[in-house]
Amino acid sequence: MIIDGKQISQSLKDAMKIEVDALAEQYGRRPCLMVIIVGNNPASRSYVRGKIKATEYCGFDGHLVELPEDVSEATLLAEIDKLNNDPLVDGILVQLPLPKHISEDKVIAAISAEKDVDGFHPENVARLWLNQHCILPCTPKGIIELLDQAGVEIAGKKAVVIGRSNIVGKPVAKLLLDRNATVTIAHSRTQDLAAVCREADILVAAVGRAKMVTAEYVKPGAAVIDVGINRTEDGKLVGDVDYEAVLPVAGAITPVPGGVGPMTITMLMRNTIECFLNRMNNK
Ligand code: GUN
Repeated sequence: MIIDGKQISQSLKDAMKIEVDALAEQYGRRPCLMVIIVGNNPASRSYVRGKIKATEYCGFDGHLVELPEDVSEATLLAEIDKLNNDPLVDGILVQLPLPKHISEDKVIAAISAEKDVDGFHPENVARLWLNQHCILPCTPKGIIELLDQAGVEIAGKKAVVIGRSNIVGKPVAKLLLDRNATVTIAHSRTQDLAAVCREADILVAAVGRAKMVTAEYVKPGAAVIDVGINRTEDGKLVGDVDYEAVLPVAGAITPVPGGVGPMTITMLMRNTIECFLNRMNNK
């Protein structure tokens, strides 16, 4: 089974569009997401375009704030502060990576935790690990949603996550654990990685290396979630999984593109609605 993230994402966005119209009616305004981009990184520009497009599709307010590559850290922090203090702004996202002269840690911490739609702020990260109410990071949240929508059972299963980043590996492992999977976090230095992965009922690959996960990594019937975004020499977008080789072995698999990627953006929309509701209901 191919898990069609694009289609699942589309139906979730269609439902949110209707929900947002009802929210506008009820609260007298629409959820508002502000996206900040610094510089001209082509990949970042393309991601941000997708985010703004989804914002418009779902009927949110908000827009893109474009700052030049050489903007000072102080100016960026002042811009964030302005949005933090704007009562009509519900969500703030600063597209990463940032130019070297700006501290990403400082910028992430500067975004008000209640408007941190990425779920990257240290307060949200801490709250996730303490099982407290928090904003979940979009990609991990999207992965759980994909598994649920595809009818993949999580409770009692063995999950292996390859990758230990703060944005994907660690939080997706925590969310799988919360759903009662038994979770192994593997990485590039794991001994006999293929054998470890072959134990998995659910295999999440988030390493950033094209075709790293071959058929020998996959237990027959396993659900394989490909979080990789890699460019081949001829510019094609591919994941971390050798898709053609793994497809006949896996019970379910997410394609790249059209799997996890669209879900990340859809969960960003979901988080914006949640931030809006938390703020309107003063939680
Ligand atoms: N750069 C790559 N992925 C992301 C993301 O999810 N959020 C932000 N802010 N920047 C990113």
